[in-house]
Amino acid sequence: MRIAVLGSGAGSNFLALWKACHAGKIAGEISLVGADQQNAGILEQAEARNIPTFFAKKGKDFSERVAQRLLEENIELVCLAGLMQIVKAPLLGAFPNRILNIHPSLLPKFPGKEAWKQALEAREDETGCTVHYVDAGMDTGEIILQERVPIKTDDTPESLHARIQEAEHRVYVESVRTVISSLTD
Ligand code: GAR
Repeated sequence: MRIAVLGSGAGSNFLALWKACHAGKIAGEISLVGADQQNAGILEQAEARNIPTFFAKKGKDFSERVAQRLLEENIELVCLAGLMQIVKAPLLGAFPNRILNIHPSLLPKFPGKEAWKQALEAREDETGCTVHYVDAGMDTGEIILQERVPIKTDDTPESLHARIQEAEHRVYVESVRTVISSLTD
């Protein structure tokens, strides 16, 4: 299974998926990594592992340009890992039911940006992370897996996000395993 990972940030979820592929826990390989930020850590992380990368500037034809690139590279599964923009019709249509996203909350609670801050501000005592199929909405789409993360009284946004990210890495690997086995059954 040829997997593409798309992000905007540091790339810790990419790294978790790459390690799982490398260890044979995921029956696939990360064949392409793309970002909408030229200096995103995710691109550096991928380059250090000799994975082909590309930069796609934000813009109204972003989804079309990305879809074209992914199709050229025979990508079969797309994992969004911190991509901070909404994926639109050309990409959704090119990969029906084959685009996953990780989000740092227990969806449908706290969609959108900095979901861990939203959970802290709402004085929740737990939050978590969700892997879901991507549809045309923002952080909507059928849920594949979630993991709960407790919120501690002395949590800062940074400490909470770091704890959620540990859960994200487990949940994303498990979700990709599950999706690939359902696609190849
Ligand atoms: C992750 O926490 C991910 O859940 C979040 O961006 C971070 C990327 O981290 N995504 C969203 O908020 C999407 N709405 P990473 O670059 O280290 O994988």
